[in-house]
Amino acid sequence: MKDGDLQRVAGRLTVARGVFVITGAGVSAESGIPVFRGPGGYWRKYRAEELASPEGFRRDPKLVWEWYNERKRLVRSAIPNPAHDVLARWDERYPDFLLATQNVDGLHQRAGSKRIAELHGCILRSRCMKTGQRFEDGEVDTEIEVPPRSPADPSALLRPDVVWYGEYLPMEPIERTEGFLSTRGVEVCLIVGTSAQLPYIVMWALEARRSGAMLVEVNPDPRFGEMADVVLEAPAGEALGRLDGLIERA
Ligand code: OAD
Repeated sequence: MKDGDLQRVAGRLTVARGVFVITGAGVSAESGIPVFRGPGGYWRKYRAEELASPEGFRRDPKLVWEWYNERKRLVRSAIPNPAHDVLARWDERYPDFLLATQNVDGLHQRAGSKRIAELHGCILRSRCMKTGQRFEDGEVDTEIEVPPRSPADPSALLRPDVVWYGEYLPMEPIERTEGFLSTRGVEVCLIVGTSAQLPYIVMWALEARRSGAMLVEVNPDPRFGEMADVVLEAPAGEALGRLDGLIERA
């Protein structure tokens, strides 16, 4: 990560009013939560179609729930890292701000972020397979009976309230993100800790850039390369922490 690049991004962030951030699993890596692809990633060890698809769930709901329960335990014991903390501070700082996250761990919310489009749902919520009713953890125990039955309809199972492969994204976060991009002037768009496999991530980033935003990628193993104006090749906590320090001092 070059000092000159950090200064350039900090310069723009210091005067900006509109900031759009997209995050992926890499932002929670420093909190001890594994990413999906790459070294130590879930998809190196497990098959996504078995654990994160409607077909996989139909085939073996117990296996899927056991995997989610293991991840829930990890998420509950994790704490937000400096990257989550900085993004929560920026939520307060910028009049026009949106954080679109692919993460399901709820760590952004725990750090204090408010304006969030939760694209892939949340691992700490469940949903009735029949009625669609949602339950927060605490309202139902997903560990006593695995797979858990739905309190809304005991003939149905509960499933994690997340988006699986082969499923559509929920409309609310998409509309929120697209509404934000079309009505607010985004001056800086940061893509943090994602391999950007999902096409809408690339589409939104490029749309922000086309409308004049500085496109900044934060990733120790960058994906956007030349599509980005600036690449900060570093862990999210370090890069965002240094940017925040520079903005505060400006
Ligand atoms: P990936 O696991 O695909 O990518 C994680 C990215 O984070 C990689 O590009 C890493 O280089 C980067 N990274 C690792 N450590 C980092 C750190 N400390 N700071 C910053 N970046 C770091 O995760 P996502 O892009 O979030 O979907 O994956 C998108 C979706 O694919 C997930 O939501 C999940 C997954 O399969 C479903 O389960 C439906």
